[in-house]
Amino acid sequence: MGEQLNGLKRTHMCGELTVEDVDKSVVVMGWVQRRRDHGGLVFIDLRDRTGIVQVVFSNEVSSEAFEKVQSVRSEYVLAIEGKVVKRAPENVNPKISTGEIEIYANTLKILSKSETPPFPIEDRSNVSEAIRLKYRYLDLRRPSMQQNLMTRFKITKVVRDFLNRNGFIEIETPLLIKSTPEGARDYLVPSRIYPGKFYALPQSPQIFKQLLMISGFDKYYQIAKCLRDEDLRADRQPEFTQIDIEMSFVEVEDVLKINEKMIAEIFKETLGIDVPIPFKRLSYQESMERFGTDKPDLRFGMELKDLSDIVAQSEFNVFKNALKNNGSVRGINVKGAASMPRRQLDELVEFAKTYGAKGLLWIQVFEKEVKSPATKFLSEEEMKKILERLEAEAGDLLLIVADKDEIVFDTLAHLRLELGKRFNLIDENKYEFVWIVDFPLLEYDEGEKRYVAKHHPFTAPKDEDIELLEKEPLKVRAKAYDIVLNGTEIGGGSIRIHDTELQKRMFKVLGFSEEKAWERFGFLMEAFKYGAPPHGGIAYGLDRLAMIITGSDTIRDVIAFPKTQNAVCLMTDAPSEVSEEQLKELHIKVDL
Ligand code: AMO
Ligand code: AMP
Repeated sequence: MGEQLNGLKRTHMCGELTVEDVDKSVVVMGWVQRRRDHGGLVFIDLRDRTGIVQVVFSNEVSSEAFEKVQSVRSEYVLAIEGKVVKRAPENVNPKISTGEIEIYANTLKILSKSETPPFPIEDRSNVSEAIRLKYRYLDLRRPSMQQNLMTRFKITKVVRDFLNRNGFIEIETPLLIKSTPEGARDYLVPSRIYPGKFYALPQSPQIFKQLLMISGFDKYYQIAKCLRDEDLRADRQPEFTQIDIEMSFVEVEDVLKINEKMIAEIFKETLGIDVPIPFKRLSYQESMERFGTDKPDLRFGMELKDLSDIVAQSEFNVFKNALKNNGSVRGINVKGAASMPRRQLDELVEFAKTYGAKGLLWIQVFEKEVKSPATKFLSEEEMKKILERLEAEAGDLLLIVADKDEIVFDTLAHLRLELGKRFNLIDENKYEFVWIVDFPLLEYDEGEKRYVAKHHPFTAPKDEDIELLEKEPLKVRAKAYDIVLNGTEIGGGSIRIHDTELQKRMFKVLGFSEEKAWERFGFLMEAFKYGAPPHGGIAYGLDRLAMIITGSDTIRDVIAFPKTQNAVCLMTDAPSEVSEEQLKELHIKVDL
C-alpha cells in the first residue's frame, strides 16, 4: 500500500531548484524517471511537470532511506525530503535546468507503486499512436506533451488577457440546442422527456453570439467546444475548440485590426516572435489564381500561371476540350526539377489524377531542347510562349493541367504543396499570415441543384454587390474573411446581415421557402425584428493554432484526450453500446 503524506508538505517543484537553493532543506514530490544503482549510491531522477531533479541516496546520509530506495522502480510516486547540494563541476549536467545541483535524501516516502508502463515515458520512445491514445494519461506525462498542453494553456491565457483588456466579456452559450445544420452533420441527443425529439450539439455558437449582439452584449467572446459529425483529417476532430468572438457596430476593417493585434500578442508571448502587422491580404479570386486554393502557404513561390490565352487556338485536343468547356489551362514551374526520372513523372501524373485531373502534362526544359509528350501537338510559338509565361530556364520542370477551373486549381495547389515539401522549399521557421477576403457569398451545389452559402446564411454581401443577389448570385462577394497561417485556415468570420429584408432575400436565393426558413431560424428572424445592431465576428480553431505554434503534425497532439481519425476514443472505448433500459427510456429502437 502507498504511504500517506502525514502532513509532509512540498516546498519546491522539481524543475525549479537551482544553485540559489544550495544548503536548503527541501521536500519534492513526483514520479521516478530513472533509477541508477551505483552500489553505495542510488540516483533517482524525480520528475514533475516543471522538470527533473537528481536525488542521491547513500547509506551515510540515511540508511533508512537508502534501504527503502532499493525497491523503487520507474514511475513510482515518491516524496523526498533532503538537502540541496552543489554538484562537483565534472558532474554538472547542462542538459537539464537543475543540472548544477542534486538533493541528498534524508527521508523517502513511497506514495504509490507502478507497474512497468507499456512504453517508456520519454520523447524518443517510438510507440504507435494507437498505444499512446489507449494509455493517454501516460502519454501525457512525456515532456513534449506536457509542453504542448502548457503552450495551449498559454495561448488561451493570452487570448483571455487580451480580450478582457480590450473590453470583451466572456459568455457561455448552450450545448443542447436546436438542430440547425451549418454545413457539417449535427450530433444529435435524444430527449427523454419528449419522445421522438432531439437536441443537437452546436457546430459553433454562431446563432447565440448573434443573439447576444441583439441583446446588447457588444464585444463577446468564448472559448467554446464545437461538435461536427464530419470526415476527419489531421487537422479535424469531431469535437474541437473555437476562440469565438463577436462585436457590434463594426465593419470588416475593425474586426481584422483587433484580431491582428491579438495574434501578434499570442506569437510574442508563446514563441517570442514579432509578427509584422497588418497581415497581407488576398482576395479569394487572387488567391485561387495564384495558388489554386483559398488557404495558400505563402512560405514559398511556385505560383500558378494561366496559359489559356496562349493556347486559345491550339490544335492540342486536351487543351481545346478544356477551353471549350469553359475550363482553363494553367501550370506551375518546378525550378531545377527537369531531370526528374520518368518513373517519378508518372507518379506525379497519378497524383494529379487523385484530384480529378484527367492527366498532367509535363515539360522538361533543357539547355538545348524541350522534352514533353505534347511537343508534337503544340506549335513552336505556343511552346515558346508557355516557357516565357512560366519563366522557364534550362533545368526547370513545367507541370500543366487543363480542365474545369475547380479541378485545375485543386490539382495544381496540391502538386505545388507536394513539390514544395519534396524540394525543401518550405522554411519551417517562417510564419506567413494572410487574410483571404472578398469570398463569394454563394456557390452552386450540383447535388442539391441550388445555391448554398459559402460561409453561412447570415453572412452579409458586400454593399456594392447586393443588387446582383438575384440577377447574378455567383458574382456577389461577401463581407467574409479567413485567416490563413502557413497554408492552414486557422480562423474565419464575417460581418452578418442585420436587416430582416436582406435576410429574407438571402433565404430566398438559398431556396428556402419562407416557412422553411421560419421553421429553422424563426427565433433568429423574430429577434431581428426588435433592433439588431450591425455586427460581425470571427472564430479561430484553437487546436489548429496550437498545432502550428507547438510545431505538431496533427491537432491530436495538442488535445488532451482526442479521438482517432475514426472518431473513436481508444482510452474509454467511446462510442459504445448502452443498456436496453437506457434506450427504452429514450424510446429508441436500434435498427442495424
Ligand atoms: P468555421 O466553420 O470556419 O466558422 O470554423 C472556424 C474555425 O474552426 C476551425 N475548425 C476546426 N478545427 C478542428 N476540427 C474541426 N472539425 C474544425 N472545423 C472548423 C477552423 C476554422 O477556421 N461560426 C463561424 C465563425 C464566424 O463566422 O464567426 C464558424 O464556425 O480553424
Ligand atoms: P492524350 O492526347 O490524352 O494522350 O494526352 C497527351 C498528353 O497530355 C499526355 O501526356 C497526358 O498526360 C496529357 N494530358 C491529358 N489530359 C490532360 C489534362 N487534362 N491536362 C493536362 N495534360 C493532360
